Amino acid sequence: MNHLSFAITSDGSKTLFNKEVGEHYHSRHGALQESRHVFLHTGMRHFLEKTGLKKVKILEVGFGTGLNFLISADYCSTQEIQLDYTGIEAYPLQIEMIENTGYDNYISDFVWNSFIKHYQQAQLKKVLITKHCTLKIEHVKMLDFKSDELFDVIYFDAFAAIHQPEMWDHESLSHICKFLNPGGVFVTYAITGDLKRTMKSLGFAIEKAPGAPGKREMLRAVKM
Ligand SMILES: C[S@@+](CC[C@H](N)C(=O)[O-])C[C@H]1O[C@@H](n2cnc3c(N)ncnc32)[C@H](O)[C@@H]1O
Repeated sequence: MNHLSFAITSDGSKTLFNKEVGEHYHSRHGALQESRHVFLHTGMRHFLEKTGLKKVKILEVGFGTGLNFLISADYCSTQEIQLDYTGIEAYPLQIEMIENTGYDNYISDFVWNSFIKHYQQAQLKKVLITKHCTLKIEHVKMLDFKSDELFDVIYFDAFAAIHQPEMWDHESLSHICKFLNPGGVFVTYAITGDLKRTMKSLGFAIEKAPGAPGKREMLRAVKM
């Protein structure tokens, strides 16, 4: 894993830089801010507020360091919301790398400690992280992901299209969106003309939302 190194982002939180891909795991304008704004607030909280539900099933593309999971699990544990979380990751990080992210500074101890304790096991089966939250990490490439389950929210956190265009094409987005319930929400940090056209062709209503620091807008799309 010597193609990976840590970098500090503008809000003081760390991210990883992948030298082979030439891309960071999070926004350099603030990893923590991006995760909270794009995935927690514009994605999961929006879905919960719109539906009034007290439970949610999330599918993340690109689990990486687990920051989006940790932020979501922490929120759900304090709000007593049942969270069932599945992360897809083609190249799971070693536990030592995750321990060095410093994300324990932003998360309740009991969520962080349980995540670290169960990280390896979660790659084999669904595990209970807190009494409100389960986690399964699927060690597969996105196009090979299969499931009998449907999800309420997709956190689409692939590397940017300029670095990994195949993750954003019609075949990939069509495959992953099959796992979303009608009325379910797809969120990602980016928005482009191609992405909007593809999501519309897949039967989604497009909503432009304000972007995280460093980006004017981001995409939220609702499955019709
Ligand atoms: C932008 S980073 C995601 C950051 C992550 N959400 C976090 O909080 O650390 C993109 C992730 O997608 C993973 N990835 C790359 N190609 C993939 C593929 N074909 N299928 C699934 N994951 C992939 C990378 O290994 C990386 O962890």
